Amino acid sequence: LVFKPLKTVQKGKLMDLTSTVIIPLLFGSLGIFALFRLLQWMRMRAYLQEAVVVITGATSGLGKECAKAFHAAGSKLVLCGRDSEKLKDLVQQLSTMTNHQKNVSTHKPHTVVFDLSDTKTVLNAAEEILRYLGHVDILINNAGVSFRGTIVDTGLDVDKKVMETNYFGPIALTKALLPSMIKRRQGHIVAISSIQGKISIPFRSAYAASKHATQAFFDCLRAEVKQYNIDVTVISPGYIQTNLSLNAITADGSRYGVMDKNTAEGQTAAEVAQVVLSAVGQKKKEVLVAGLTPSLAVCLRNLFPRLFFTLMATRAKKERKAKDS
Ligand SMILES: NC(=O)c1ccc[n+]([C@@H]2O[C@H](COP(=O)([O-])OP(=O)(O)OC[C@H]3O[C@@H](n4cnc5c(N)ncnc54)[C@H](OP(=O)(O)O)[C@@H]3O)[C@@H](O)[C@H]2O)c1
Repeated sequence: LVFKPLKTVQKGKLMDLTSTVIIPLLFGSLGIFALFRLLQWMRMRAYLQEAVVVITGATSGLGKECAKAFHAAGSKLVLCGRDSEKLKDLVQQLSTMTNHQKNVSTHKPHTVVFDLSDTKTVLNAAEEILRYLGHVDILINNAGVSFRGTIVDTGLDVDKKVMETNYFGPIALTKALLPSMIKRRQGHIVAISSIQGKISIPFRSAYAASKHATQAFFDCLRAEVKQYNIDVTVISPGYIQTNLSLNAITADGSRYGVMDKNTAEGQTAAEVAQVVLSAVGQKKKEVLVAGLTPSLAVCLRNLFPRLFFTLMATRAKKERKAKDS
């Protein structure tokens, strides 16, 4: 009889357990996960290919990058904007992309020119889209304008302008396209909101208000249209490197014209467009696209509101002091 020391026996058992149970379990789980991701990717590809996708604010920033991402996925695009020349340039850029595209068949986009702050042109645009393409599968309400200024100095006309562009325009377009989606019992409506739809930052009042309204409207819509098999996705980015702060309007209605540090240091529009593509493809209900600090701020607002209000008041004081100096 040979007696092995207890430690050696335990070590042997542990190695047996590793080779017979843990390693196969690990590889099995990885295989199942990879298969799941592949199926998810195939379902997403099938959903987006040939889908009629309307994108507002396609002339710049996130909208432009979404146009590239959905075009590459084989969607039939309707690109919306205020400037027909910029839209033509984008169609040209997409056609160059098409020449390098393999595996997926792409489509020449249709363009529609309208101003979201003019309800009549929004309704005409919806009519034109339905007349030309027959239906819309996915509507991406992306266009928007930001705001910088103190509440006390801001004229009501500026508040209304921001609300028209960020809230009334998108909901007018949504309402105009909704009956045809309900009739088909199929459709997907996406709202590009903002982290400022969840928390309010000083000197952004009109913008934060318009995005809170957006969040509320599309949350109600999601519940109301579920019975018609229509999906609603709300995407709330933090900071994206676009012209949003440059194009922001100020208290007197003039253009802000400053590239904010946070915006310049944000995620690229192409990265966020991929998040939008994947969220839409997976029919996610809502996505927060933000780093740790903004995500913590949302938690703080909900769990410890008094602390959040104190921090915002300190921020307002600091920003006012920096502006005055
Ligand atoms: N950048 C960020 O840090 C950030 C963060 C969170 C959320 N977002 C949201 O992301 C969306 C896209 O903004 P962006 O960052 O890409 O800014 P952007 O580069 O300034 O693009 C804004 C787009 O909206 C269009 N637009 C503005 N007013 C319009 C109107 N009255 N009618 C029709 N179109 C109008 C612009 O068209 P023109 O070319 O004609 O001006 C442009 O295509 C917005 O909803 C914004 O609130 C941005």
